[in-house]
Amino acid sequence: MRRIHLLLALALSLAAVGATAHAGPSRPWLNSALSPDQRAQLAVGQMTQAEKLTLVLGYFASDWQGKKPPKGGRYGSAGYVPGIPRLGIPPQWQTDAGIGVATQGGATVKRERTSLPSGIATAATWNPQIAFQGGRMIGSEARDSGFNVMLAGGVDLARDPRNGRNFEYAGEDPLLAGTIVGSEIAGIQSNHIISTTKHYALNDLETGRKGHDARIDPAAARMSDLLAFQFAIERGDPGSVMCSYNRVNGNFACENDWLLNQVLKGDFGFRGYVMSDWGAVHSTVKAAMSGLDQQSGWPFDDKPYFGSLLKQAVASGKVPEARLDDMARRVLRSMFAHGLVDDPVPGSAAIDYAADEAVTQTDAEQGIVLLKNDGNLLPLTGAARRIVVIGGHADKGVLAGSGSSLVYPRGGNAVPGLEPTGWPGPVMYFPDSPVKELERLAPNATISFVDGADPAAAAAAARNADVAIVFATQWSSESIDVPMKLDGNQDALIEAVATANPRTGVVLETNAGVAMPWAPRVPAIVEAWYPGTDGGAAIANILTGRVNPSGHLPVTFYASEAQLPRPVRPGSNSEMDQFTLPYTEGAAVGYKWADRNNLQPLFPFGHGLSYTRYDYGQISAAAAPGGSVRVQFTLRNSGSRAGMAVGQVYASPANGGWQAPRRLVGFSKVELAPGAAQTVAVDVDPRLLANFDEAAHAWRIAPGAYIFSLGASSRDLRATTTVTVPALSLPANWRPGQEAAAPAPQSGERGR
Ligand code: BGC
Repeated sequence: MRRIHLLLALALSLAAVGATAHAGPSRPWLNSALSPDQRAQLAVGQMTQAEKLTLVLGYFASDWQGKKPPKGGRYGSAGYVPGIPRLGIPPQWQTDAGIGVATQGGATVKRERTSLPSGIATAATWNPQIAFQGGRMIGSEARDSGFNVMLAGGVDLARDPRNGRNFEYAGEDPLLAGTIVGSEIAGIQSNHIISTTKHYALNDLETGRKGHDARIDPAAARMSDLLAFQFAIERGDPGSVMCSYNRVNGNFACENDWLLNQVLKGDFGFRGYVMSDWGAVHSTVKAAMSGLDQQSGWPFDDKPYFGSLLKQAVASGKVPEARLDDMARRVLRSMFAHGLVDDPVPGSAAIDYAADEAVTQTDAEQGIVLLKNDGNLLPLTGAARRIVVIGGHADKGVLAGSGSSLVYPRGGNAVPGLEPTGWPGPVMYFPDSPVKELERLAPNATISFVDGADPAAAAAAARNADVAIVFATQWSSESIDVPMKLDGNQDALIEAVATANPRTGVVLETNAGVAMPWAPRVPAIVEAWYPGTDGGAAIANILTGRVNPSGHLPVTFYASEAQLPRPVRPGSNSEMDQFTLPYTEGAAVGYKWADRNNLQPLFPFGHGLSYTRYDYGQISAAAAPGGSVRVQFTLRNSGSRAGMAVGQVYASPANGGWQAPRRLVGFSKVELAPGAAQTVAVDVDPRLLANFDEAAHAWRIAPGAYIFSLGASSRDLRATTTVTVPALSLPANWRPGQEAAAPAPQSGERGR
């Protein structure tokens, strides 16, 4: 099917561009045998200044504040950058975002497309292949909708469970987040389109996102948020990086020489282009000279900084012409490298929704986390003849996160009219009802539904049932933060139901972790996140045991806000709020913070139960060349159901010296039949054993003994082994596959 689309697309686009698209002696940049760098260089050499300027200013492609979008854009989408037909360069048609093809507000006709579960749900799969397949699926829908740039790849770390965009990202750990997001980017780009990674960097709170100043020790940033971006970029090779709204250590991210020129383009070796977030530009000369290559979404900013103002700045010499060339060259390089010129997108093409729904359903199923299952309440068995489902609009659909990334579903909003109906809403329920899916899977049970508005009525219904399942929700969206709790009176509802019937399970659809004051009285808890287009079917498959749960938390579920690095969330929940946001926890994010401070979370990072039992053992580790360590371990399914086990490898220096007692340094998810075992090897990236030394501008591994532990979670370590590692220093621009160049540091040196 996909192949037919590609052929059709090729035929249509060749017809559209005509003979002019062919390479020839006069248009050598269209010769795909040349490298992207050569092609970009050749094309820029032919361009007028006006053409170069065309490539560095993007437009919002929807109505905005009474302004109409430019012709040529795909109406109702995030962005449009005109092409250069004279040179065979197509426009850039940009769409949000990381879970599917979104539609921007203002557009009356919505693109109805397939949505993956939220980004945090995909991270909870701990399965890079699933992330790749999801990326490939949404990228194909983007392509078949006429888009060649997808504004996906959100990898800001979850420093605070109240960040309203946690659902768009991939959790709190740089290795897990970078691996999952990098895989998704690679999947998107396998469609010959560009993906971004965003929002670079430290856009870890929505409150004051356009005004707050994230203050962090630079070395700590390298070992946390920036490392997540570095891993995502190395794995996914995104064509573009989107700089964020906030300031970092005093400078706005989109005019931050340290972030863009020194770290991203210098140390990370990023060869693509930096685009701004929509409304994140504040200057012309400073931004251009600090590394921004493309201003996005005009007129979101107050001025066309990279339009007429950039032209003036070049004329006056404040921005050298060579820098404008570099900006245009970077944009073109990514367009050549990722197939936008050689394999142009069609205006539109048929989408195989059935195939795409299978992809999102598998993603949701692997990301759902069984948090608690006392007395094996789940899976629901034939003995549960009377099942009452309560709340969460589970009779109609499943909740989605909102904001620019919202994908409008085929079939429309299952629960229209909930506030807010306008930005940052609408509140959206995808029309895949868990109740209807349960009825399909459990035809011999009587399944009733109570909406939960009245806790007493819900408790009465629960009393007469064999099992009660409460669906509980926390809505979230871009541009707001949310309290670390369920919406409205759902805590009281759950208490009332659990009191009436001890055989109560709770299914959560949340942004990230919430407080669960009722947890001790509820035997089964399932975290389903925002589970996407086929979320109802995925939840029903988990509840009935058709699918064995295999998701694990990509974030710490704290017991209360008192455990957070900042118990009181700063700012006033306005995105314009200006304040300093000191990330004093540095690189001790999430479980590292909890471990360092001996906190007992509600559910720890990496936690996730299953309906079978796994043995974790036979761990061994050996130092490998180049500072890596190879860790081997065996996972065995000692229960009676097939399932997927996740082996998590944590490292600790025996002598301390890290920001926290342990770091995740490797993981692997394997499918195991009952009784089966598999031995797995993971190669630990040496940067995960190092501290970043800002003065030496290098990663430094302290010599000594390191303990490697195999865990079922960060707090459930089942087997350990110790390896002695030599001292090693790797330059800041070191990349995997590169030999260690620098000499070892003096003995006893341990970084910070
Ligand atoms: C968001 C980005 C998004 C862009 C375009 C911004 O408000 O922060 O994530 O890609 O809008 O819609």
